[in-house]
Amino acid sequence: MKLIVALIQPHMLPDVKKALDEATVHKMTVSNALGAGEQAGFSETYRGVKHTTNLLKKVRIEIAVNENFVKPTVDAIIKGARTGKIGDGKIFISALDQVIRIRTGELDADAL
Ligand SMILES: Nc1ncnc2c1ncn2[C@@H]1O[C@H](COP(=O)(O)OP(=O)(O)OP(=O)(O)O)[C@@H](O)[C@H]1O
Ligand SMILES: [Mg+2]
Repeated sequence: MKLIVALIQPHMLPDVKKALDEATVHKMTVSNALGAGEQAGFSETYRGVKHTTNLLKKVRIEIAVNENFVKPTVDAIIKGARTGKIGDGKIFISALDQVIRIRTGELDADAL
């Protein structure tokens, strides 16, 4: 199992959601986040020297999947979020050790 965490531009959320729906990925957690990447939150044309990081509004999407759903999920996020401009976002994929459905006590693949 893997935990996929994507930080995307907030206005791209509807497109990402649509692409995930089309890939039959429905279970997810979505939250608002603040973040900075390579440009430390400033555009490359920003005038003046930057001394601090400027945190920009991002949307964070968390999706736990079985191995066979990693690629379809990642592909869908990219399809929905990519414009080709800086700040399109980033996807982090980590090993996921255990999943527990609280109601039933089911574990891992049964609980996903
Ligand atoms: N190394 C990182 N660690 C944690 N969060 C990150 C990291 N890089 C990016 N992020 C998160 O992803 C968001 C989007 O990053 P962003 O798309 O600007 O990445 P980038 O590396 O600057 O690429 P680009 O040059 O295309 O902008 C950031 O606002 C931040 O929330
Ligand atoms: Mg950036």
